[in-house]
Amino acid sequence: MEEISQDLLKKFKAPAYPESFLLSFEGIEGAGKSTQLLKLKKFLEEKNFRVLILREPGGTPFGEKLRSAILNTKTPIHPLAEVYLFTASRVQLLDEVTLKELNVPNTVIIYDRYIDSTLAYQGMGRDLGVKTILEIHQNPPLNLIPHLTFYLKISLDTSLERQEKRNQDRDYFESQGRDFYQKLIDGYDMASELFSERIIVLDGEKDEGQVADDIKGHVNQLILK
Ligand code: TYD
Repeated sequence: MEEISQDLLKKFKAPAYPESFLLSFEGIEGAGKSTQLLKLKKFLEEKNFRVLILREPGGTPFGEKLRSAILNTKTPIHPLAEVYLFTASRVQLLDEVTLKELNVPNTVIIYDRYIDSTLAYQGMGRDLGVKTILEIHQNPPLNLIPHLTFYLKISLDTSLERQEKRNQDRDYFESQGRDFYQKLIDGYDMASELFSERIIVLDGEKDEGQVADDIKGHVNQLILK
């Protein structure tokens, strides 16, 4: 495993707003993020939180342009170009939406993919190294990390099976082979070790209801602190 210094890790901070929360969902294709995101949104709204779901890449007018440029490309993009495009979309979303909305008390922002996707997909999947990705993110506003991240972990075979069932047109990343997906799993494992207090690893192969209950348990601990 790559050596990452504590000094670098210490640059990353969760928001300091006392009454608002930042959460994220992560996982490889087919992990069940969308289902769990919506269940959590409903749960939090029932507790009278204002809930915003933001997706990456995208979420702002310019970010959505970047999203379609990346995901619909017919020609390969250099890994560094890829990481800077995702990062450009992220900064824009932080500046235009996230930082402002977190100022509003009683708000929960849930990201559908955030920095850990970049650690897994570009850091490991594209071989740039996790350290390079962390270095790109070490200054504000990119050093903002969620209070909690739910990593829905599934096996390579489950991911491929679920993708097969969905039978949608494959985007840029979905058309990659097994080796790439294995690297993503390794990348998420590494991120989970580096940020062990923030990233909650959940068994995405379990029953949807059970996974949702686990998530609610963790969120309750956070909001009732
Ligand atoms: P999306 O359709 O949102 O995928 P999913 O439904 O699986 O979340 O497409 C986003 C794709 O972009 C997905 O394959 C992961 C990839 N990605 C990166 O490679 N790096 C990143 O930093 C982010 C945010 C996403």
